[in-house]
Amino acid sequence: MTVQRGRHFLQIPGPTNVPDRVLRAMDAPTIDHRGPEFAKLTLAILEDLKPVFKTTGEIVIFPSSGTGAWEASLVNTLSPGDRILMFETGQFAMQWHRMAKNLGLNAEVIPGDWRHGADPAQLERLLKEDRAHEIKAVAVVHNETSTGVTSRIPEIRKAIDRAGHPALLMVDTISSLASIDYRHDEWGVDVTVAGSQKGLMLPPGIAFNAIGPKARTAAKSSRTPKSYWNWEDILSAGKSGFFPYTPATNILYGLREALRMLHEEGLENVFARHARLAEATRRAARAWGLEILCLDPEEYSNSLTALMMPEGHNADNLRKLILERYNMSLGTGLGKLQGKVFRIGHLGDFNELMLAGTLCGVEMGLTAAGVPHKHGGVLAALDYLAAGGQPQVAARAATRSA
Ligand SMILES: Cc1ncc(COP(=O)(O)O)c(C=O)c1O
Repeated sequence: MTVQRGRHFLQIPGPTNVPDRVLRAMDAPTIDHRGPEFAKLTLAILEDLKPVFKTTGEIVIFPSSGTGAWEASLVNTLSPGDRILMFETGQFAMQWHRMAKNLGLNAEVIPGDWRHGADPAQLERLLKEDRAHEIKAVAVVHNETSTGVTSRIPEIRKAIDRAGHPALLMVDTISSLASIDYRHDEWGVDVTVAGSQKGLMLPPGIAFNAIGPKARTAAKSSRTPKSYWNWEDILSAGKSGFFPYTPATNILYGLREALRMLHEEGLENVFARHARLAEATRRAARAWGLEILCLDPEEYSNSLTALMMPEGHNADNLRKLILERYNMSLGTGLGKLQGKVFRIGHLGDFNELMLAGTLCGVEMGLTAAGVPHKHGGVLAALDYLAAGGQPQVAARAATRSA
């Protein structure tokens, strides 16, 4: 095996680079999770998380991966046989759908081409047709990590309201929270699903539900069997800062530090940084002549960019070469996109020079692997960043959603 020196570039769209401050914060003795110091830690974290979700309501933390928080969103609010509409935005949306089916829900997919986000007009039509209000929930992945497409949640909310439909709105923010603007309360989301390992800059291992009042009410009549994921047990222990089981104590130390970092920078600055680095990445892609998978500029993801390979070239061969020669991991194509796209993660603890290194690795890799492309991608990104990087598209999208 070749020895590789220097820092590994972890440019997959999560888990993301864990900042040194967070690593140091976790490097501490584990404390008694039933003692007073632990209760203070949890209560402070639960408060500091609220502005990140933009909610004043309840948040629960699970010692689990994001998939666990998906399951919690479904088993707490719905009953076997309930209808739930789920948009096929990509691989993660389809996995959530598979889980819903496995749990005995009547889960329907609104088909998609994996190049667009959830379509509000189509949702409005379907909800208007459901005069008996049999549809109990609508589930959308805010930022589809397999495609680099961000769905317009405010417009989804408006579509539900225009249809006058009472369905719950559940949103997966696993690769958008603390990277792309997200507003649980203002956008009328009933359950938000999130994870630790992306915008929150932590290792994998904890996951979240933010719970709105309508979801709390729905939970009272949900008949799906549940135990580990039961919100009520967690909320009741959480009031005094405890968990009904052993929490991920050291990741919570990390979370306290990560929240400090996010609040020091200011969430709006965090979003602007992500928008700037994402736009620079897209400029590089255009200069290379590689096609961006996302087709609608209003839905470009600021967390990651998925790029299509020219016909006859396999993305995984390129990724392998880049890993072996330049010590950088890029995201693989998932599901039906395997081999066809590679994904550049540009989220979390990330800055201009890290992006420059990432794009240099891609450009050298394209040349070394003999992938047809034009030179100048890195330069296009650097010129944009050197000029201050005005994220026009992201700024426009934010204004539209306000
Ligand atoms: C959008 C999205 N949803 C769900 C998941 C699943 O989360 P986990 O792998 O933490 O269980 C991921 C993982 O990357 C994701 O990106």
